[in-house]
Amino acid sequence: MAELKPGDAVILGHGGLPVDHSIADLECRARRYLPRVLYDWIAGGAEDEAGLRRSVDIYSQHRFVPRYGAPVDQPDLRTTLFNRTYQRPFGIAPTGYTGILRPGGESMMRAAAQRADIPYLLSGVSVPSLEAIAAEEPGRTWYQLYPARDHRITLDMAHRARDAGYPVLVITMDMPREAKRERDWRNGFSLPLRYSTKRVLDGLLHPGWTWRYLMSGGVPTLGTWQRYLPANSPASAVLRFHSEQGYPAISWQHVDDFRAMWKGPLVLKGLLHPEDAQRALEAGADGVILSNHGGRQLDRAVTALESLAAVRERVGNRLTVMLDGGIRRGADIATALALGADYVFCGRALLWGLIAAGEAGVDQAIAILTDELSRNMSQTGTPTIKDWGPHRLASAALSDHGVSRSQGLR
Ligand SMILES: Cc1cc2nc3c(=O)[nH]c(=O)nc-3n(C[C@H](O)[C@H](O)[C@H](O)COP(=O)(O)O)c2cc1C
Repeated sequence: MAELKPGDAVILGHGGLPVDHSIADLECRARRYLPRVLYDWIAGGAEDEAGLRRSVDIYSQHRFVPRYGAPVDQPDLRTTLFNRTYQRPFGIAPTGYTGILRPGGESMMRAAAQRADIPYLLSGVSVPSLEAIAAEEPGRTWYQLYPARDHRITLDMAHRARDAGYPVLVITMDMPREAKRERDWRNGFSLPLRYSTKRVLDGLLHPGWTWRYLMSGGVPTLGTWQRYLPANSPASAVLRFHSEQGYPAISWQHVDDFRAMWKGPLVLKGLLHPEDAQRALEAGADGVILSNHGGRQLDRAVTALESLAAVRERVGNRLTVMLDGGIRRGADIATALALGADYVFCGRALLWGLIAAGEAGVDQAIAILTDELSRNMSQTGTPTIKDWGPHRLASAALSDHGVSRSQGLR
């Protein structure tokens, strides 16, 4: 597969694929491919899904004031994060069970991230083990850890991530309790997927997914968690073990334990309150990923974009402040950067690419976002990522100059 270069135009018709112009196009194709129960699990959010909608809509409430006359043909998208320069200011957020959606999904994401030179965050609930993904390309992928109720298991996973050479450890803080995701409840979603007449019909109506699922051996395991069960335990036993052990609340005491054993950058994901960002700083964290978990946890939570300014004001540049949630356009990335984010992560946008067309689909989703961001930079006269700032937004650019409609702005 061709290497993706920064500033590449959208790869249209890549590998004989039908043409997709936007992330929404890729989502349409992914929706046709996936059984309903899985599409809803990915697309859905908690309760009324107000947080999910808001996390998408919030970006377009901010508008740029374009600058012309000093052309920027090829904006420079390179961004440095934890002393490493990436080719683009956005990376791949961790998503669990990716290999269920496309067999080998985690490896495909990792390979696409390598080609595009962006970080990929391997989920703590990945189908392959953390060692298997690290072995594919040591030292690049970040590890997102979900704790176990047995803290010895949690710490063991962190030690394994360190020994496997992961450079950055990400601890997800925003799952103190299982969320109320009503689409999943209505659909009877569980892992492993339970068989029922409705489920079989759903599978028959989506033969591409079903064929790949069956060919890959059916119920996928959780490779990293497998280690804590007797050898040769079936995948269903591993999933059961995880449902007993998984998702306990993380305390600041746990964060201290991670800080003590992890020498590299430590990132806390899912924080939104400025006081928590301050607490992260005091605990020795190097960065935070502000997130409302894509609207999947606390429906009435603020979005990451809404908490960004207050967090920035509180911690200044002493923490690397990243965010995720609702990114569907390059302009969304531009908005987050303009409001002060150091880096941005995308969950569903890149998942839709993977589901729609495998590895080439992830390439395509990355290319679409890159192309849109690059065009936004040219239109706003923004030559480099460092040049994004509030001055590009109407809220500052127009009010700074004291221009208002009442003063005759036409
Ligand atoms: C299907 C799915 C699975 C997810 N799994 C994880 C996970 O394993 N670990 C984690 O920290 N966040 C997980 N998330 C949250 C994402 O990392 C990210 O915060 C969210 O998707 C951002 O919103 P977006 O999808 O609108 O970009 C998941 C999100 C989705 C949609």
